[in-house]
Amino acid sequence: MIAIGCDHAGYLLKEEVRRFLEEQGVQYRDYGSYEGEPCDYPVVAQKVCNAIVSNQAQLGLLFCGTGVGISMAANKVRGIRAACCENVYSAKYTRLHNDANVLCMGGRVIGPGLACEMVGAFLNAEFEGGRHQRRVSQIMEIEAGKLLDPGC
Ligand code: RB5
Repeated sequence: MIAIGCDHAGYLLKEEVRRFLEEQGVQYRDYGSYEGEPCDYPVVAQKVCNAIVSNQAQLGLLFCGTGVGISMAANKVRGIRAACCENVYSAKYTRLHNDANVLCMGGRVIGPGLACEMVGAFLNAEFEGGRHQRRVSQIMEIEAGKLLDPGC
């Protein structure tokens, strides 16, 4: 299950990606906005991210005007690694190397064709683990308030 959500500035791109998910037969749940009505991106980010950390969804897709604000909000939820991306390479490698569980995109920044390619790359890539696991674990340790290098 993929959780998706947007604010008013990300609505049109979210709708394009939602249709793409339908065509690909990907199961998703849409947390709004549903008609492009003005709304606050942190509220939507929290709904989508809560669905992920409670295991109702495995991955999330979030859209605002730039992709930046909604990624900032998403990354405040413990257990979320949200990546704001603008190209296919980053969307793929943030799964492979960072084990990102949310992809954020800007409706005022990228077009629908690119966004759908990015979503395909993100959803089809698997975390590689190995040396990347140590670094992802360190990210989570920062989240837990641990000092990674007590010597400095
Ligand atoms: C809304 O106007 C806009 O500020 C928001 O969608 C987003 O771009 C914030 O980062």
